[in-house]
Formats: sequence, structure tokens, C-alpha cells
Amino acid sequence: MGKYEAEIGIIGGSGFYELFNLMNKETINVETPFGSVSVEIGEIADKKVAFLARHGKAHTVPPHKVNYKANAMSMFKLGVSYVIATNAVGSLREHLAPGAIVIPNQIIDFTKNRDYTFFNGSFSIKMRDGSIKKGVVHTDVTEPYCEELRRKIINAASAAGYKIHDGGVYVCTEGPRFETPAEINFFKMIGGDLVGMTASPEVFLFKELEICYASICVVTNYAAGMQKRVTHEEVLEIFNKRKKDIAEIIKKTIKLI
Ligand code: HPA
Repeated sequence: MGKYEAEIGIIGGSGFYELFNLMNKETINVETPFGSVSVEIGEIADKKVAFLARHGKAHTVPPHKVNYKANAMSMFKLGVSYVIATNAVGSLREHLAPGAIVIPNQIIDFTKNRDYTFFNGSFSIKMRDGSIKKGVVHTDVTEPYCEELRRKIINAASAAGYKIHDGGVYVCTEGPRFETPAEINFFKMIGGDLVGMTASPEVFLFKELEICYASICVVTNYAAGMQKRVTHEEVLEIFNKRKKDIAEIIKKTIKLI
């Protein structure tokens, strides 16, 4: 293991570009075969934590251009065992109003053109347990989100008095445009609860790396057709209102790890 290591990784989504309660932080570049990733390393509750902003610090990288493989590999290289991600999402359900916090347990992938896997044929990697994964690998995603970490987030948030929704189906779209109302109706029919643009392939890449990964989703709007229109400004505004709470939930979760 290199000079820098961390036990816990945090991936900040739209509206979450800095982890303000990260102590003694240092910004480093982690080199991976897929590109270099800027990561902040520091401490929360005496644990080593690595933070990266999925869209870049100034939100310059759109969802379909995020280097998901480099991001995931940077966490692997730092020795991270648990990753808590945040995602801003639209809601497909009346009872999940803007501001609601949901810890999804399933995902339906409607992205179209992303780099979905490390295992394109020639890749080989030594896993933490010493085993080698290489060539053609078909990963089980029966449980796409890590149940152990989902429980920790839910327990930490509930103990701190936050209302939190346990479980939900995240529908991932290609973006960067928002959806049409017809698409949203279809997503509702097939069982979706939330819609966003960034869970895939992130969740699947962490599964390939056997890193325990869960997400804290913040509902920032009702999906297209359920409110007059959807804007990015609104997404950021509502997420901002929840940012302190999310940082608090992350800190309390880290204490349980
Ligand atoms: N659709 C897709 N992604 C989103 C939305 C939405 O309505 N809100 C926040 N991210």
C-alpha cells in the first residue's frame, strides 16, 4: 500500500463538492490505469476518509462524461473498504417529496453509452483477499447496494432523528437532459421510485471491486410531468438545503463503521 490510504470513501454528487467536516485534509492525485483522480484525504471521527467530487469541484463534468472507472479504481488503490456516495435524484412517487432522503436498494439501468466494466477481456486485478480476477467476469448484482452499509446509514440517521426512506429503486438515465413525462410514466410502471443520471456504472464497478458501496439519495424535485418543469438550479438549491444534514449523516455513519 502506498503512502496514502483510507478506510472509507465518500463520493459527492451534484451540490456536494466538498466535505467540510474532513479534518487535516490534503489533496492528492491518485494515478490509475484509467486516469488520474483528485482526491481529498483526511479524517472524520478518527477514521481515514477519502473524498472525491464526482462532477469535479466546479461541476464541470456532466454525468455521461464522468470517469467512473478511474474514480472507483482510485478508491480501490487507496485501500478503501466502504464507499458512501451521494446522488441528487428526481422522485417518481408522491410520498417522496423534494428534500426526502432515500437509501436505495435496487437499480434499473437505462444508460446507453458508458464504460460499464473493468472486465473487457484483458484486464486482471488482484483482489483484497489475494485472489485474481481476470478475463471474462460476470458479476452477481443481486444486491447492487451493500446491505451492511445501507443498514449503518439508516441506523445512524434514524438515531440522529432524521426521517429516512429505507429502500427504493433508482432508475438511471443517460442524461444530461432530464426525462420526458412519457419516460417517467414508463419508469413508474416498471417499478422505479427515483430517477438520476449517475448511479450506473458506479454501483456496478464497486461491485466488481468487491467494495461495500451504498448511496444517500436526496430528492431534489418531482420528476418530469409531476411538476411544471425540472431545472438544474432547483436540483442544486434543494440539495444545498440538505447538505449539512447529509454531512452529519455521513459522519454518524462513519462512527458506526
Ligand atoms: N432526473 C434525472 N436526474 C436528476 C433529476 C431528475 O429529475 N433530479 C436530480 N437528478
